[in-house]
Amino acid sequence: MKYFQRFSIKGKNAIVTGGAGILGSHFCMGLADAGANIAVVDINVENATEIANEIKKKYGVTAKAIYCDLTSEQSVEEMVETVVSEFGTIDILHNNAAGKSSNLNAFFAPFEEYDLNQWKEIMSTNLDSMFLVAKYVGKVMKEQGTGGSIIQTSSIYGVMGPDNRIYEGSFYLDRQINTPAIYSASKGGVVALTKYLATYWAKDGIRVNTITPGGVESGQNETFKQNYGNRIPLGRMAQAEEMVGALIYLASDASSYVTGQNILIDGGLSVW
Ligand SMILES: NC(=O)c1ccc[n+]([C@@H]2O[C@H](COP(=O)([O-])OP(=O)(O)OC[C@H]3O[C@@H](n4cnc5c(N)ncnc54)[C@H](O)[C@@H]3O)[C@@H](O)[C@H]2O)c1
Repeated sequence: MKYFQRFSIKGKNAIVTGGAGILGSHFCMGLADAGANIAVVDINVENATEIANEIKKKYGVTAKAIYCDLTSEQSVEEMVETVVSEFGTIDILHNNAAGKSSNLNAFFAPFEEYDLNQWKEIMSTNLDSMFLVAKYVGKVMKEQGTGGSIIQTSSIYGVMGPDNRIYEGSFYLDRQINTPAIYSASKGGVVALTKYLATYWAKDGIRVNTITPGGVESGQNETFKQNYGNRIPLGRMAQAEEMVGALIYLASDASSYVTGQNILIDGGLSVW
């Protein structure tokens, strides 16, 4: 038995939504490094194109940037059709995109004043989009009859409440931040959707799992990094590339008996 070969996804075709993001670009590169061809799906098609070009150059696989507004059913349907016509099959889906808001004051507003339309906008990007992409990709995977692997990105705040003390003196995105309830609620929904789909598609050989990142360092100020690190058994925030190993494991046959699970990559935050 060649055990390590089971981590290879050579020749498989993968979609990564939000592939132009901070973590998304690492997820695309990681899957490409393990051998997969990548559809870099994002509303920001300019950044997605840069990433697709870098993937082709570095890893020698096929990579294409594909525009999609994941909150629109028509756009998702068209995106999946494009992937099938360009790549032939879909073997791996990484349902990964999430959004903040163009209005950060509304996004970070206190719960008692939170605007319902803001709530719905984020729910649409973070959870409705995962339903839509899974709906159209799942249909293709079922028709192909060769199974598949779907991985969905949640967040540590989808499984536990935020410790609001860490935001004292914090600064990110040019402002004071917090974790809004809609972020937690939408990300909790991702975990539930994963479990539902894992049993629903098990008979079709489609495995569905969640990866749950903890806080990743991406320009937060020193106070926040220290406050956050003090809450973490490993004593620090994560680096983006530390999220990728679990994704490759779940995308590949190395995890062929794993479905419905949630791998928490949180430096131990959820343990104590
Ligand atoms: N970065 C972290 O610290 C962290 C921690 C926990 C969980 N996560 C989760 O990891 C995932 C990736 O995070 P990230 O840091 O790369 O986020 P990011 O904000 O850097 O990237 C998100 C990407 O999604 C795209 N996007 C947003 N709305 C879209 C839409 N309607 N249609 C198409 N594309 C859209 C954006 O253009 C962007 O490229 C997210 O689900 C996020 O919630 C991140």
